[in-house]
Amino acid sequence: MKPKVLVTREVFDEVLEYLSQHFEVTSNQSDVPFDPGTLASKLSDKEGALITLSDKIDATLLSHCPKLKTVCNIAVGYNNIDLEACTKAKVMATNTPGVLDDTTGDFTWALILATARRLTEAETYLRKGQWDGWKLKQFLGMDVHHATLGIFGLGRIGQVVARRAIGFEMKIIYHDVRRAASEIEQACRTSFVNKDELLGQADIVTIHVPYSPATHHLIGKQELEKMKPTAILINASRGGVVDDSALIEALRSGTIAGAGLDVFENEPKLNQGFLELKNVALAPHIASSSRATRYNMAMLAAKNLVAALTGEKPPNLLNPF
Ligand code: DGY
Repeated sequence: MKPKVLVTREVFDEVLEYLSQHFEVTSNQSDVPFDPGTLASKLSDKEGALITLSDKIDATLLSHCPKLKTVCNIAVGYNNIDLEACTKAKVMATNTPGVLDDTTGDFTWALILATARRLTEAETYLRKGQWDGWKLKQFLGMDVHHATLGIFGLGRIGQVVARRAIGFEMKIIYHDVRRAASEIEQACRTSFVNKDELLGQADIVTIHVPYSPATHHLIGKQELEKMKPTAILINASRGGVVDDSALIEALRSGTIAGAGLDVFENEPKLNQGFLELKNVALAPHIASSSRATRYNMAMLAAKNLVAALTGEKPPNLLNPF
């Protein structure tokens, strides 16, 4: 008898075919997220699960899933998983690092350029039929080339963003909890600064840190007030790293000039304040969403699932086993 696994959301056919070679697969191809009660009942007889960041794995859920041995996130971020609870319940948790760095870095640049050059605002104006001709002072934006880029978090994705910035001949500064190795700093042509220096010097502040209690509201009212009034803030990391209400107020009052956001607090419920603002470019958590990368993420998660249930160490195990 093959072990039973649950795939909680829609995935590519190839991923289901691969999993079906090893497991009896139940999959939610309708793609409507399960509420916690439904997830618990669907998982009650399963040994493994391919999950996404909208599936919360905590002690309560695990108490209903006596057979569960592994939960495999289709995401590099894993703040939806209580690792301590998994370890206590002897459930292996895995994520998908590495395969989405370039794609997420590319999209960060889409947000930087769209925000600095007011692309979404200009497109909305055009679509509404308001364009009545070329004007010298129309949608004056901010130059990205030669500007100062401030990167919070020089991990894999932060490094990709920095390397792309070299082409724009930018000054690149970063802050992280730990200073990066000098080879990394050199490859990224970046120098380490403290948090306040980064906020005060950068024309573009971009965030690439994981969400955790330590990074909750890393950027709030005080931090926004330390930024230049001409600066823009970019977040393609996780909702909750930025205090959305404080950001909306800062964008309204002109404390900063603009923001480009792919992630939000309480996704998918957007703080309506964002929709009233022109100086913000918004995206629905799609930074890693190129066809190739989303496929690679799902396949890597599936490989973790197969390894975990066939007695091998999953390549991307997050908790001690
Ligand atoms: C991740 O992998 O954590 C991304 O946010 C998913 O899109």
